[in-house]
Amino acid sequence: MKKPESDAHGRLREEFNRWAEEGSGEEMEEHHLPIVEPTLALMNLQPVDRVLDVGCGTGWLGKRLAALGPGGQVVGIDVSDEMVRRAQQAGAGFGNLTFLRGSVDRIPWESGYFTKVISVESAYYWPDPASGLREIFRVLAPGGSAWILINYYRDNPHCHQWGAQYNIPAHLLTAGEWARIFSDPGFTDVAHRRIPDNSPTPEVYTGRWFKDAEQMRKFKREGALLISGQKPLAT
Ligand SMILES: C[S@@+](CC[C@H](N)C(=O)[O-])C[C@H]1O[C@@H](n2cnc3c(N)ncnc32)[C@H](O)[C@@H]1O
Repeated sequence: MKKPESDAHGRLREEFNRWAEEGSGEEMEEHHLPIVEPTLALMNLQPVDRVLDVGCGTGWLGKRLAALGPGGQVVGIDVSDEMVRRAQQAGAGFGNLTFLRGSVDRIPWESGYFTKVISVESAYYWPDPASGLREIFRVLAPGGSAWILINYYRDNPHCHQWGAQYNIPAHLLTAGEWARIFSDPGFTDVAHRRIPDNSPTPEVYTGRWFKDAEQMRKFKREGALLISGQKPLAT
């Protein structure tokens, strides 16, 4: 029997459905690409990789991954049905790309399948990041790796003000705390590094996420946090 959706998941779904309807999903490609490109370079992607994108939004990264790996397979999952609907529409031309609604703590896929897992700007919203990382560990093949990229973390003081703007709870953790959450299910070679955003910053900032252009510049210079780990060959 299908389990009923929890309150936390219902709130996430509603909030990100709203973001999708406002067109924020498509806008994120431009915002996240400067930190995603260096991450893809570190992942050593192979044309036959089977890649899972957790919190795939409207699927722009899934499409890029599917084009990079024509001999492999790309699956994107997202808790928001509206994000997934848009991703399915946008990715309709790719034979090796699938988008599904699902939450990271119950990934709708078999164990031991994926060779790489990536997640961009999603993990701090997960109601229980530790159970998300356990599920990612489960669906990875032995020797596979996970790559989690986040802009909202405690060691970067220039993003702390975002918490008050969110309509849903978000975890503000340190790099060390994220690394421990990775180590618990059994990931090895757990590493964290900074990925600075080197894109140009406007002279004047009028949005709601930063006080001014100077704070945005400092935030980008600190960079996103990238945590990675490997599933051992023998578990
Ligand atoms: C800031 S958006 C980033 C989307 C996309 N990765 C991108 O870079 O454009 C965060 C995404 O994570 C998804 N998300 C949040 N919690 C999730 C969960 N527990 N399981 C799966 N997806 C989740 C949201 O629905 C949303 O689409």
